[in-house]
Amino acid sequence: MTLADSQSLKDLIARRRAGHSLAADFYRRQDIFEADMELIFGRHWIYVGVEPDVPEPGDVVVVDIGKTSVLIVRDDDMNIRAFHNVCRHRGARLVSTPNAVVGNLVCRYHSWTYGLDGKLLFADHMGEDFDKSCRGLKPVHLRSIAGLLFICLAEEPPKDIEAMAEALTPYLAVHDLPNCKIVKSTDLIEHGNWKLTMENNRECYHCGANHPELTVPLFAYGFGFSPKTLDEGEREQAARYQALVCDSHARWEGAGAASREVEHLADRVTAFRAERLPLDQHGESQTLDSKVASRKLLGQINDPAMGGLSVWTQPNSWHHFMSDHVVTFSVIPVSPTETLLRTRWLVHKDAVEGVDYDLENLTQVWLATNQQDADLVEITQAGVESPAYEPGPYSVFTEGLVEKFCDWYLGRLSAGLATDLAEAA
Ligand code: FES
Ligand SMILES: [Fe+2]
Repeated sequence: MTLADSQSLKDLIARRRAGHSLAADFYRRQDIFEADMELIFGRHWIYVGVEPDVPEPGDVVVVDIGKTSVLIVRDDDMNIRAFHNVCRHRGARLVSTPNAVVGNLVCRYHSWTYGLDGKLLFADHMGEDFDKSCRGLKPVHLRSIAGLLFICLAEEPPKDIEAMAEALTPYLAVHDLPNCKIVKSTDLIEHGNWKLTMENNRECYHCGANHPELTVPLFAYGFGFSPKTLDEGEREQAARYQALVCDSHARWEGAGAASREVEHLADRVTAFRAERLPLDQHGESQTLDSKVASRKLLGQINDPAMGGLSVWTQPNSWHHFMSDHVVTFSVIPVSPTETLLRTRWLVHKDAVEGVDYDLENLTQVWLATNQQDADLVEITQAGVESPAYEPGPYSVFTEGLVEKFCDWYLGRLSAGLATDLAEAA
């Protein structure tokens, strides 16, 4: 980004009206997309997958973020490591499939061979003076938080990942994600800017009108409402729901599962929120009958009615942890108007398909919901492209987390621009 572009982006940020959606330029300009890739996705902790992506030594998964390709590998000592997917000889991409199982990492071009720890082990015809020790794969920062894998492409990653790890681990640990297995994975390209995908996720204002499957297990009052517009009966129901939340939190926390809201979506560099909420009907899982989809419960859980733990991280993830399964989502920008939504469904690693769970039953709510959300993102992108679009107001009752997402995004963009301008001065 040139200095002039940086200045124009700073002006655009300064002109943003609080409590309103963003100016159209943020959703469509190529240079802002590039700034997003550099300043947001290049300098923050990005959620990329789960430990069960690489269950065994030699398992590799490749994650592409813009032009950067990263390979995540389990080594022989069961450590998970991340490296740039670039051969140190002449730069060939080492692993060109999304998943691989390898003994060593061998470049197909001239057979340079790297260990699972990234060390260069073999490079033929390079002469006696060639020093292999300084030609190992370039490492990428990686941090697992109770099985959720985050990478950071910056040389100096934000240190407050430790605070997020400390806060989230008590929520996640009971689900024992490292001992789950992935039973379904989808990559959906949404036809909209990545921020529209995120904003759509940060509210359930749209759920009643758009998600017939998801709203079966979800309570209507779980995601905010305008209290003054409720009639007598609705007010009673909302109060009953609040009492249920209080009771449930006390019960779950008593059983060792952190549950009450923890929220740092706008006041941290590595920003997050978590809360466990009761589910409707049978209260067990995000399924069409609201009962567990897998009979083999996760970790040490023995109560199927653990509600749904939702975890949100900035800039690019959300996750739903239930007693029997986990659904996890990562968002990777592809272009100003295209976004990859990667979804994974996990169950206990010993659960057997057809015996303990039925895959269709397990996945149908979120397969339907993801497509519905993708459609909403697409029509919003079409709308913000119009000259008639102007930023509209968020509901203070149901869209507070959308505002926090935008606050965080603009704050981090400003911080990145300020650093770059200071370095250029
Ligand atoms: S580019 Fe990889 S061995 Fe030559
Ligand atoms: Fe949705």
